[in-house]
Amino acid sequence: MPNIVIVGAQWGDEGKGKIIDFLTETADVVVRAQGGNNAGHTVIVKGEKHVLHLIPSGILWPKKMCVIGNGVVMDPASLIAEIDGLRSRGTTISPENLLLSDRAHLALPTHRALDCAREAKLGAKKIGTTGRGIGPAYADKAARSNLRLADLLVPTTFAEKLQAKVEETNETLAAAGLERLEFSSLRDELLAAGELLAPHVTDTAVYLHRQLKAGKSLLFEGAQGTHLDVDFGTYPFVTSSSTIAGGACTGAGVGPQAIDRVIGVCKAYTTRVGSGPFPTEDETLSEKLHALGREFGATTGRPRGCGWLDLVLLRYSVIVSGIDELAVTNLDGLDDFATIPVCVAYEIDGQRVDTPPVRIEDWERITPVFEHWAGWEQDITAVRRWSELPEKAAGYLARLSRELGVPVTMAGVGPDRAQTLVKEL
Ligand code: GDP
Ligand code: IMO
Ligand code: MG
Repeated sequence: MPNIVIVGAQWGDEGKGKIIDFLTETADVVVRAQGGNNAGHTVIVKGEKHVLHLIPSGILWPKKMCVIGNGVVMDPASLIAEIDGLRSRGTTISPENLLLSDRAHLALPTHRALDCAREAKLGAKKIGTTGRGIGPAYADKAARSNLRLADLLVPTTFAEKLQAKVEETNETLAAAGLERLEFSSLRDELLAAGELLAPHVTDTAVYLHRQLKAGKSLLFEGAQGTHLDVDFGTYPFVTSSSTIAGGACTGAGVGPQAIDRVIGVCKAYTTRVGSGPFPTEDETLSEKLHALGREFGATTGRPRGCGWLDLVLLRYSVIVSGIDELAVTNLDGLDDFATIPVCVAYEIDGQRVDTPPVRIEDWERITPVFEHWAGWEQDITAVRRWSELPEKAAGYLARLSRELGVPVTMAGVGPDRAQTLVKEL
């Protein structure tokens, strides 16, 4: 199999976990390269649901290596909890199937405290973060003042560095009238986690280089989505990492020539969780999907806003990640509609635009331009082959593909591993 990068093409939660799990069967190594435990990737196998946060979604397949690369910000306690959860459900975790980059930055309790303090201060203008400390951890990384996984393995120097960080954070917390963090208990918890994680820690860039040389195939698992990207997303309502395909190279330490294909994942409609603009949001669609128990955040449980497919977002995602093909999930979410609105352009102050604006103030003045595509009004969850899709459902995907100039090669008709269709050639 070629080396593939999977990227979210919307605002996250596109179903990347399900697609990664599906493709892992034919890959050798699955790599996370950015984000942290703000991610929640759902994989359902024979009715059993797993939600992965830091560990790559390939972990459920035996004999596949999963790698957490240098670009990830890693919360050690959260990682241990995830490992324990997987083990309790029968998945073996060892250095034979999970490696952690020694260069990965830590997302510390200090970062979580600052994340929550900043959000509280922003009040109604909050970003709606997951509260996992992601922004402050990446800020410390860029400010060259963070601690990395390699630091956690040397208790004496780690304790010194952590103490300085806790003291600095406590000054900020005290100024905001918030409770101070207690250094010694944090130190003990983190060092205990470090001991458990130590056997998994290595220079993963060197490991991946050797795998490439040996002809193994790598699958890069994007977290979040293109429009949450710190450069290309709806700034400031974004996450703090490079969620586009290029992030896979910097976050794993592989050259761009190692990447053979980029697969964009999108839903057949659009969702967004947290604050920020959402031009095609639709209350009726949200209510309908929520009533089915769908579209609640995999990490925070918050209801996701739902809206119609937005081609302006997808067009831009194709450009900035060099998307070669698309996997469209949740096609079954549109089963009940006679016609389906699809946003083909935006109007801002009477001007038609077909790429996203840059300023947040412009996002707030968007009127979506909709076309109405034919719906299929039929339950498709039992379909197992592309050729068995109702003509109008296949037609929806074909039109999407024509509009974007990119083939749609996979489609999801339900959340289970078995409910992924691959387009027959
Ligand atoms: P990720 O973060 O991109 O991995 O996506 P999430 O797991 O956060 O959210 C996707 C949601 O859609 C999860 O609840 C999945 O189980 C579900 N899902 C994925 N593909 C399909 C599909 O084709 N149909 C249905 N009904 N659900 C799907
Ligand atoms: P996966 O990988 C959907 C959103 C948050 C918030 C913004 C910033 O499951 O697709 P952060 O905690 O990163 O500082 O929050 O980004 N967000 C996600 N939304 N899916 C995710 O991950 C997300 N990770 C972060 O809701 O709006
Ligand atoms: Mg998710």
